[in-house]
Amino acid sequence: MSQPPLIVLAGGSGFVGRHLAPALVNAGYRVRILTRDASRLRDLQVLPTLETAAHPEIYAPRHLGPAVRGASVIVNLVGLLNQGIRRKSRFAWVHGAVTGHLVAAARDGAVPRFLHVSALLADQSQLPSAYLRSKADAEDRIRASGLDWHIVRPSVIYGPDDDFLQRFARLLRRSPGILPLACPEAPLAPVDIADVVRALRMLIDGARVPVPAMNLKGPDLLTLKEQVEAIGRVIHAHRLIVGLPNGAAWLMGALFQWLPHPPFTLDNYRSLRAFSRAPDERPAADGFGMLGIIPTPFRARIPAYLGHRIA
Ligand SMILES: NC(=O)c1ccc[n+]([C@@H]2O[C@H](COP(=O)([O-])OP(=O)(O)OC[C@H]3O[C@@H](n4cnc5c(N)ncnc54)[C@H](OP(=O)(O)O)[C@@H]3O)[C@@H](O)[C@H]2O)c1
Repeated sequence: MSQPPLIVLAGGSGFVGRHLAPALVNAGYRVRILTRDASRLRDLQVLPTLETAAHPEIYAPRHLGPAVRGASVIVNLVGLLNQGIRRKSRFAWVHGAVTGHLVAAARDGAVPRFLHVSALLADQSQLPSAYLRSKADAEDRIRASGLDWHIVRPSVIYGPDDDFLQRFARLLRRSPGILPLACPEAPLAPVDIADVVRALRMLIDGARVPVPAMNLKGPDLLTLKEQVEAIGRVIHAHRLIVGLPNGAAWLMGALFQWLPHPPFTLDNYRSLRAFSRAPDERPAADGFGMLGIIPTPFRARIPAYLGHRIA
């Protein structure tokens, strides 16, 4: 009897991978997660058809060859929001070079399909942040790969164990009545992790779409301030949210970026500002529309994700 198809999740130990891997296993796929540290996957090991390929240098070509062998699809989930000082924690390595190595391993190993998770705005011509420029570089490498590829560009993703709802909930709980907020007017269309997983699964299943690169945006275009206010209502942390002027936000990013785990950086500031300047009608396609998915409104599931009911 032939084995079920094998899906390789590069960076599958992260937020998106932890939701996608069980969904794929439940759908009957074999899943192999590539990670630099197997201990990050201990809790996922219970999944019956999950394998791991772990090595501190897993994205070096000599390790990638065996790690992707036999795969039908490589899904690239490797990413980070704040770069470090070491070469291998720079955006250029993590988003650009690692993607290049994965593409080469796919070609050499005859893996036919490549699904890449990029970020909203990475297709725009004016890219003010190093994060977005490195995401655009990764996309260029995929488009030039000759593989059968898809690119999805999610807006900020929220879910039960994310870095977005939970971070602002923590900040709200700790703030003494007033919460200063950088870039409060940045318009974002936050997207539910369940919808992102559904879209990725449909693409892995072979859904036919008219264009291979698509945006994944939630249905509500809310400013950052409106989102934080919504989170505050859910967790009953009614704070006065005070938007910082751009100069103060810039300075905050410039100072905080030197902290070991910065809550906000100059590059974050530049990325958020890019949302404010982006044209309303973006040329890239609406991924959920193409896949027939109705995305979840922002306020629908955040009480469950935050473990609270709205009063
Ligand atoms: N979450 C969002 O709101 C959001 C929004 C738009 C786009 N995206 C993109 O979607 C993808 C998945 O997002 P996510 O939230 O699941 O990401 P994540 O949890 O932050 O990270 C995914 C994985 O990337 C790997 N990684 C991190 N730094 C690395 C490095 N220096 N070298 C090699 N691997 C490294 C880690 O795997 P190991 O430590 O196991 O090796 C990590 O588990 C990323 O490309 C992200 O940029 C996310």
